[in-house]
Amino acid sequence: MKKLSISAIIKRKNTLPIMMITAYDALFARLFEESADLLLVGDSLNMSFGGNPDTLSATMDQMIYHTNAVCKGAQNTFVICDMPFGTYTNESTALSNAIRVYRETHADAVKIEGGADKAYLVKHLVDNGIAVCGHIGLLPQSVRAEGGYKVKGKSEEEALSLIADAQAIEKAGAFIVVIEGVKADVATRVAQSVSIPVIGIGAGNGVDGQVLVFSDMLGLYEPFVPKFVKQYMDGATAVKQAVATYTQEVQSRIFPDENYVY
Ligand code: KIV
Repeated sequence: MKKLSISAIIKRKNTLPIMMITAYDALFARLFEESADLLLVGDSLNMSFGGNPDTLSATMDQMIYHTNAVCKGAQNTFVICDMPFGTYTNESTALSNAIRVYRETHADAVKIEGGADKAYLVKHLVDNGIAVCGHIGLLPQSVRAEGGYKVKGKSEEEALSLIADAQAIEKAGAFIVVIEGVKADVATRVAQSVSIPVIGIGAGNGVDGQVLVFSDMLGLYEPFVPKFVKQYMDGATAVKQAVATYTQEVQSRIFPDENYVY
C-alpha cells in the first residue's frame, strides 16, 4: 500500500473510515503496515512497554527512539509521533521539540493533546511547516491534574466545548484530530462540526475512523482493559502458552530435536 498523503487523509472524511493503530517498534510496525492507514507512536508506550502507571514520564528521547524504529519497520505508512507531556508548554518549546521529531526521524506528523486552549501551539507548528494531529476529549496527559480518566461529553455544556475545541484545532491548521473517551452521540456531533477527519478512541462509531492501542486490541496488556477496547485476539494467553511449552520442552529435552541442530 502507498503511504497516504495529508490531502488523501483529509479526503477520507465522510468516505472510507480511517484505521489508525499504535506501533512502538519496527517488529510490529512491519506487521501492521499491510492493513493500517496511519500508525501512531503513542506515548501510551510508557505504560504498556515502559511499565509505568501513566504516560507522564515519557520523554522526547524515548519518543524519537521508538518513532525511528516504527518508521524503519513501516516505510510506506504515514507515521504520527506523540509529543510527550511537558514538551509543548509554549510555542518555542513545542517548535524545537517538533523540529527534533522531523530532523531525527521520518515521522510525517506530530500529535499534541488539548483543545481550544492549545490551538495557538497547533498554529505555531503548522506555520513552521509541521503537520499536526490534535487530540481532544479525555487527555491522558491530564490524568493527574484531573484526578483520573474522566469520560467527556456528559452535558450539553461539555458537548459544546468539545465542538469548540475541534473547530479551534481545525482553524489552527491541524489535518486530523483524535477524540478520546467521549459519549458517542457527542463525538458524532463533533465529527460533523469540522471538515477534517475525527478519529475516535472510546468515542463510538459516528466518527471518521478509529484508533486503538495495539497491545490492548491484541489482548497483550493485562493490567487494565478499558470498556471501549475490543480484543481481537487473546495475545496474553497465546504468548504465555507458547513460552510455557518452550520451558517444558527445554526441561524435558524435547527441544532442540534433530530438526533444530547444525
Ligand atoms: O498514546 C496513545 O496511544 C494515544 C492514543 C490513546 C490515541 O494517544
